[in-house]
Amino acid sequence: MDVREKIVVVTGGADGIGAALCRRFARAGAAVVVVADRNGEGAAAVAAEIGGEAVTLDVSDGEATAAMVADIERRHGGIDLFCCNAGVGDGDPDRNSATSSPDAVWHRAWNVNVMAHVHAARAVIPGMAARGGGYILNTVSAAGLLSQIGGAVYSTTKHAAVGFAESLSITHGDQGIKVSILCPQGVDTAMLRAGGSGSPQSLDGVLTPDEVAESVISGLAAERFLILPHPEVLTYMQRKTADYDRWIGGMRRLRARVMAPAGS
Ligand SMILES: NC(=O)c1ccc[n+]([C@@H]2O[C@H](COP(=O)([O-])OP(=O)(O)OC[C@H]3O[C@@H](n4cnc5c(N)ncnc54)[C@H](O)[C@@H]3O)[C@@H](O)[C@H]2O)c1
Repeated sequence: MDVREKIVVVTGGADGIGAALCRRFARAGAAVVVVADRNGEGAAAVAAEIGGEAVTLDVSDGEATAAMVADIERRHGGIDLFCCNAGVGDGDPDRNSATSSPDAVWHRAWNVNVMAHVHAARAVIPGMAARGGGYILNTVSAAGLLSQIGGAVYSTTKHAAVGFAESLSITHGDQGIKVSILCPQGVDTAMLRAGGSGSPQSLDGVLTPDEVAESVISGLAAERFLILPHPEVLTYMQRKTADYDRWIGGMRRLRARVMAPAGS
């Protein structure tokens, strides 16, 4: 897809990767960029900068998502590209326990990292299919393909997001619905900074949100399901599928290395 003249929606568009996507889509000539975020002020600031529209939206609210989609479709005649980008990235409070996050944290991550994708797809697919097609881009993470050390909630919900995107593409591809998942490792945003320095997802280098947006433009142009701004992720996936047990062993060693006290 070439986003020129397209009607585009980006959730989590107020900051980080989402804001970079909004700016890049505007620069690429999108007809309308809707910046949706629970942070309404941040969304308004990005929208003002790029001449887009701002919507205050909590993506975990399915009814609000459906109402936003209906309103955009009514005013603009449709949505060509819907980017489910908002996400939450809680780490395990006890790094030595994969079960240490309270249930409330699991539920919130499930709602934002997974159910928001379901709500959005449910809202946009009928219109897209009726118009002969459309594009859904879901920001997942390399943690959805591999695993994030110290992030059981994040890894689990992001794996679920990969599974849902595969189902979407398999089920709705013949209706003209194109699907891509964006799976970076470390990207220099508030979410990564909240995890502190030296986080394992930064080992292969931290990209800027603008660099990730550039990968998205080329991934959308190629209509590739898997968009990998860090190309080494593909090698790790190949190692994982070639020998799962060996890969788990390697991840244990990596965990021991990143958990070791500095200087040891
Ligand atoms: N930063 C990284 O290293 C990295 C790596 C891989 C994947 N990701 C994914 O990229 C996406 C964007 O993250 P980011 O790094 O730009 O983080 P960020 O914290 O800079 O931005 C996230 C945005 O999402 C919004 N948001 C969060 N919950 C929301 C909700 N319930 N409803 C609406 N908006 C909500 C926030 O207000 C914020 O504007 C996430 O899905 C994240 O999991 C980030």
